[in-house]
Amino acid sequence: MASSPEWKDRCAQALRKNLPETTVLSNLKYRYTCPSNEGGAYLPQWLWDSCFHAMTYRWFDPEMAWEELLNLLTHQISVGNDKGMIPHMSHLAENRDRVSQELFHQKNASILTQPPLISTAFLSVYRKAPDRSRLSWVYPKLRLYHDWFDRRRDDDKDHLVALIHPWESGWDASQRWDSVMGCPGRDENDLRTLEGKRKNLVSLIREHDCDAEILSKTPGAFYVEASDFNAIRVADLSALAELAEELGYKDEAKEIRHQGALIREAIRQKMVTMKEGSIYFHDLIGREEIKSPIDHGGKFILLFGQCIDKNEAKILINQLVKIEQPYRTKYRIASTNPMDPTFNGDEYWRGNVWLSLNWLVFQGLLKYGEEKEAQHITEESLSLVKNQGFCEFFNPLTGMRGKKHGQPCPQNYGWSTIVLDMLMELEERGISIDT
Ligand code: GLC
Repeated sequence: MASSPEWKDRCAQALRKNLPETTVLSNLKYRYTCPSNEGGAYLPQWLWDSCFHAMTYRWFDPEMAWEELLNLLTHQISVGNDKGMIPHMSHLAENRDRVSQELFHQKNASILTQPPLISTAFLSVYRKAPDRSRLSWVYPKLRLYHDWFDRRRDDDKDHLVALIHPWESGWDASQRWDSVMGCPGRDENDLRTLEGKRKNLVSLIREHDCDAEILSKTPGAFYVEASDFNAIRVADLSALAELAEELGYKDEAKEIRHQGALIREAIRQKMVTMKEGSIYFHDLIGREEIKSPIDHGGKFILLFGQCIDKNEAKILINQLVKIEQPYRTKYRIASTNPMDPTFNGDEYWRGNVWLSLNWLVFQGLLKYGEEKEAQHITEESLSLVKNQGFCEFFNPLTGMRGKKHGQPCPQNYGWSTIVLDMLMELEERGISIDT
């Protein structure tokens, strides 16, 4: 049985092992943590990874937590059509990441974004280590980011933002995108084809200046309104409203909350269906907003945005806890329904447990008062790490370390340390976990 101080140590060690080399850090204003140092594939900074890192750091190194987030703003776009956008990968030059530089045709950062969790992360760091002067500097930048979403990604003005690349969802190789990417993803060959297509898609996006409206009408492009992404955005706006209040901007806070309510309503209206006592969730594909039939674990993230009512939440949560349900795997939460014919618990995004996603669902469960279930998810998450290390992802049936194209995934992965935040949040509520 490991206590929370021991978990703090373990998580601190895991994150610190992933600090970039001093030669990289010495060229930066703030420090950051790589997703993983193993194999050299994950050296730049990633947007939502760093949000998770910061929420872990806040429990033992709040200064580092601030730096991790502040550093994300270094390459926020400050001029032109995309003013406000925060790139999903940055610090490419310092890391000499030539492959990404060529792909994005940019020296420093990518041209895509990732799930907006940054206000949420700033708020949770601020709560542990308040710093008004930093917050005053950060707040307008967070607002600009959300304004960018409204301007550039909600071209049909339905309050739901569209993704223009699977990488933006954070669920790169999920079954969710197979049909949009034009390949069924049945076997290893297909998975490699899909990987190639994701790389090629970047040129098409560049050609059209990342314009979602144009891309929505361009053959071969990707245009999806994703349910979990929009739900994460609702939660982020609510965190942004709290930050506004903190600075005394009451009217702005009200406006931001109103915006969140509109998105929530749009999700409820367009992405959720109740039929004969069952509940279904859909990503909307293309400008025609075709309801995707793919059932995936992202639906549980709608709890995080509080996008459904209490009764609907009960029905949804049952899918996670009732013994006979497909998502009630030994280790939760599978990213794809284990009954899906293409489910593969080992292979990258084809049905794995990701502790970053577990955290989002954990927070959602707490918002609906489901402490017991939040506790179970935390116990399972901790036991995965105890048995296999801080793996990038895990198999939900066996609990084993996941694989990408058959090769084991990195075992000291930054965002898997988010288990500490789960453990500590429960501890603050007086719930102790048998770890
Ligand atoms: C992979 C994941 C993405 C993550 C990145 C860095 O691309 O799909 O969600 O942000 O790795 O960890």
